[in-house]
Amino acid sequence: KKMKKEAKVLSQKLLADGIYDMWLETPFAGDVRPGQFVGVYPANKSTLLPRPISICEVDTDRSAIRLVYRVVGSGTAEFALCKEGDQINILGPLGNGFPIDVAKGKKVVVMGGGIGVPPLLETAKRLSGEDVSAVMGYRNSETFLSDEFAKYAKMYIATEDGSVGTKGNVIDAMKAEKIECDVIFACGPMPMLRAIKAYASEVGAKAYLSLEERMACGVGACLGCITKTKEIDDHSRVHNARICTDGPVFDADDLEM
Ligand code: FES
Repeated sequence: KKMKKEAKVLSQKLLADGIYDMWLETPFAGDVRPGQFVGVYPANKSTLLPRPISICEVDTDRSAIRLVYRVVGSGTAEFALCKEGDQINILGPLGNGFPIDVAKGKKVVVMGGGIGVPPLLETAKRLSGEDVSAVMGYRNSETFLSDEFAKYAKMYIATEDGSVGTKGNVIDAMKAEKIECDVIFACGPMPMLRAIKAYASEVGAKAYLSLEERMACGVGACLGCITKTKEIDDHSRVHNARICTDGPVFDADDLEM
């Protein structure tokens, strides 16, 4: 069983409107797989459950992980106030992460939407050397992290307002830029993931989707993250999976969505 651990805040800054960028020193940095997340505990003791936050990047030299997160409530608002040198309690690494090895020698596309963008950065980094494209979707010209993806991947941007890149969503950018893919790793809101599942089956690609946006506690306690999957055993019954403990990454073919 994972234990709560102390982590030291190395730095924190505002990255975009309501989105923060925090580096934490933690002993488990070297064990992290891309697509995994941590549970961050608010200091307020009346709040017992941690907040799940995906891991954006790892720096093993500093034994550090980077969290890029949106402030959505009192817990995340509290994290945003943390400063260099502060200690916070975290649990992790949690979840399964993306199966990077399936992309060896293939054309791979990492796709992120909104606050689903961050976990794809470490994913792109671990894939560098492969034929990797990054297609990231944003609301507007606040295309946070996009310059960092360009270090590891051919970078494409879609924006809802058309201010940068293709006007529309990540699928519109795939089509407009004629990006080929054998394997997709994606994270973002459910409508985007549904569209990616449909697109992957249309073009004959494999897709692995992180459903982390649907998590609440991240540790199996709230049951707010139940999702339907196709039965993996022989009984072909609908199987209820918990995103936080069985995922957050699923093979799109296994999901009913
Ligand atoms: Fe709470 Fe999965 S997020 S049980």
